[in-house]
Amino acid sequence: MPRLTRRAFFGSALTGFAAVSSGHAPVPHPSDQSPSSSLIPPGAPDGLFLTWQRDPTTTVTVQWIESRSLGDVTVSYSPFPGGGTWQVTRVAPKPFPNTGLRVFRAEITGLSPGSEYQFCIGNRPVVYRFRTMPARATDAITFVSGGDCGVNPHAVATNILAAKQEPHFALLGGDLAYDNGRAPEAFLAFLRNYGTQMIDPAGRLIPMVACIGNHEVNGAVGATREGAPAFLSVFDGLFRDTTFGTLDFGDYLSLVLLDSGHIAPVSGGQAEWLEKTLRERDGCPHLFAANHVPAYPSARDPGEAGAENRKHWCPLFEKYGVDAVLEHHDHTFKRTYPLKGGLKDKYGVTYLGDGSWGQLRAPAPLAKRPYLATASRAYHLTLHRLEGDQRFHVALEASGAVADVYGTVGKRPARRG
Ligand SMILES: [Fe+2]
Ligand SMILES: [Fe+2]
Repeated sequence: MPRLTRRAFFGSALTGFAAVSSGHAPVPHPSDQSPSSSLIPPGAPDGLFLTWQRDPTTTVTVQWIESRSLGDVTVSYSPFPGGGTWQVTRVAPKPFPNTGLRVFRAEITGLSPGSEYQFCIGNRPVVYRFRTMPARATDAITFVSGGDCGVNPHAVATNILAAKQEPHFALLGGDLAYDNGRAPEAFLAFLRNYGTQMIDPAGRLIPMVACIGNHEVNGAVGATREGAPAFLSVFDGLFRDTTFGTLDFGDYLSLVLLDSGHIAPVSGGQAEWLEKTLRERDGCPHLFAANHVPAYPSARDPGEAGAENRKHWCPLFEKYGVDAVLEHHDHTFKRTYPLKGGLKDKYGVTYLGDGSWGQLRAPAPLAKRPYLATASRAYHLTLHRLEGDQRFHVALEASGAVADVYGTVGKRPARRG
């Protein structure tokens, strides 16, 4: 799996990052906001954001949280720009646990890939926009990833920086709101920030994909599903029965979303599911895993964290050719070398992290973590760009400075060896 040089990356791809489409933005843009505030348009529902329960090339799920007791709520949508027929889908509300609020959810299906749509809630005056994922990866696809957010000014600044990259979606790998399963108001504040700040330069909402972290649950490790009431109230569409799952984008991208022991043990049933899941996606052009607690921590001692991942998951990542693992929890920026059995190997798996969207900690010296290629104490997000069989991973610090560029192309040969 040849790696791409920084020069080749900038020569072929970076120009695409700055692309800003012209177009009408019907919701207030995050650039209009101060770094410590969120802006909800008058009449707009609270905490509105987009996510997915199944193939993002043809579906989207709209969700929000509020108290209104509306008997018959609908989401109306049509192609954007206008001219197409408006269709209406009904919304199924359910409790937002430990509050008097309710989660409103509408899944829209049967959409056209690579297309833009607009939607509105009931007869409210705000019109939102989104796009479906392309049918194929022949066009460049970008997404941002990170973890360990919260609602502080640093998390807000990273939201705004992320939105400016015009990503198709964001993948957040745990510790979203730091609600600890006990503070639904913190989770709603996180969604309120996300929904109003994660709007791309063309005015489109940026869907969120997430996996569970220790601060989603009350009790951190070994909790039941009831221990993560806020997180699962909005993500149980994807995580219906388990707190791990997959999201497949057409036939070109698969995200394997894992629970690093917070509700589901790393070993046993989840590890067996992981092997089956990866085997079924053998040959997928772009295959990423995401989990919260890192297999190869940058700040914590590897004797204290990640041992279960390294024992039960990493051999499977290596065996089935996972293209990168996105991990978090240590609140730093880090990239490992390609690793096999914990040692540098050009056919190994690279781990990107370590969760500093809005939280920060100093990494250990590189000399004490020989698996790390680089690490720093920096708020950051990673911008991923897929072009055909090429993958670029660009770490952006809070200032917008490029901290790291890493790229790979194709699939590793003889990866069963
Ligand atoms: Fe964290
Ligand atoms: Fe964490």
